[in-house]
Amino acid sequence: MTGAARATPNPIGLLAELTHRCPLRCPYCSNPLDLDRRSHELDTATWKRVFSEAAALGVLHVHLSGGEPTVRQDIVELTAHCAQLGLYTNLITSGVGPAEERLDALSDAGLDHVQLSIQAAHSANAEQIGGLAGAHPRKLDFARRVVEHGMPLTVNAVIHRGNIAEVGDIIDLAVAMQAKRVEIAHTQYYGWAQVNRSALMPTREQADASIALVEGARQRLKGQIVIDLVLPDYYSNYPKPCTGGWGRRTLNVTPSGRVLPCHAAETIPELVFWSVSEHSLADVWWSSPAFNAFRGTDWMPEPCRSCERKERDWGGCRCQALALAGDAAATDPACHKSPLHDRMQALAISESSAAEPPPYRYRSIGAGADRRQEQPA
Ligand code: SF4
Ligand code: FES
Repeated sequence: MTGAARATPNPIGLLAELTHRCPLRCPYCSNPLDLDRRSHELDTATWKRVFSEAAALGVLHVHLSGGEPTVRQDIVELTAHCAQLGLYTNLITSGVGPAEERLDALSDAGLDHVQLSIQAAHSANAEQIGGLAGAHPRKLDFARRVVEHGMPLTVNAVIHRGNIAEVGDIIDLAVAMQAKRVEIAHTQYYGWAQVNRSALMPTREQADASIALVEGARQRLKGQIVIDLVLPDYYSNYPKPCTGGWGRRTLNVTPSGRVLPCHAAETIPELVFWSVSEHSLADVWWSSPAFNAFRGTDWMPEPCRSCERKERDWGGCRCQALALAGDAAATDPACHKSPLHDRMQALAISESSAAEPPPYRYRSIGAGADRRQEQPA
């Protein structure tokens, strides 16, 4: 175990990306461009072992995610297994397709919480963004059934140029859905969102107006709904503490079993990610070189190394540093102390100023290899 690992607490959360398959095709999907095929997915017994190892490692929350996790035939069995282990289970779902069929059984299996994605407040726009006709009213019906089952509901909306004008309506819709929480999450530009960045980037004025609107709604709806806000990195002065710090709080397991510190970590070419097929989760957490690469603060260059915020934001996001600075160990350009900060903001202003944004490039399995070539510089 390295010095950084010795100073690290046990993880509290596991994001289980059970599959990359999904009925929706959102252009900001955080899945990688090279989506795992069904034939590469872990089997039921391996996922159960992973959950048992997670519980033994101290994990409290399991996020059953994807793609759309309910396309797995064994989702009810896996949820029941997590419940038996005493893990708090959160289903991150599109709410359409198999999710509709399996909701009752998932509730019976002990599912604790549902996080439902919506693409916009109004059907036509929502369905254009998600790439599936007829999805929006089905999501509303799904939400109604979640509440009827007595499960707490969180509504998640990824915000971008195509729906930023609907932020107020999205919040009102979440209230009408009786959600306990709504996440207004400005797009993070990794995976498919990076490919679609020039179609998704809002203007600074739009971003500022959306933040003001959320602040007003928080006052107006206090005690009724919790509103979480993920700020738009490209117009911020400080970066987010991505995943609560690299290898500090959570781990992700991909459909084929690679264990990552964050969902975009595989974009960092110099890192090798161990698999649950060859290593226990504890082994990966404490000993894998990839988890130790950016743990703690010893790896930091200036200006982070001598910054008073270095244990607050942990230097921001390694994947964003790689994407924009070409170096995963650089200070996140979202930070105003980064030499690339002005360039990052100029890029956002230039991309958002086009009168007509380019059309979405929808995610699809098998299209990643071509589209990786098309990423904006
Ligand atoms: Fe965070 Fe580094 Fe910026 Fe300081 S210099 S605020 S640690 S990113
Ligand atoms: Fe990888 Fe932020 S997404 S560190």
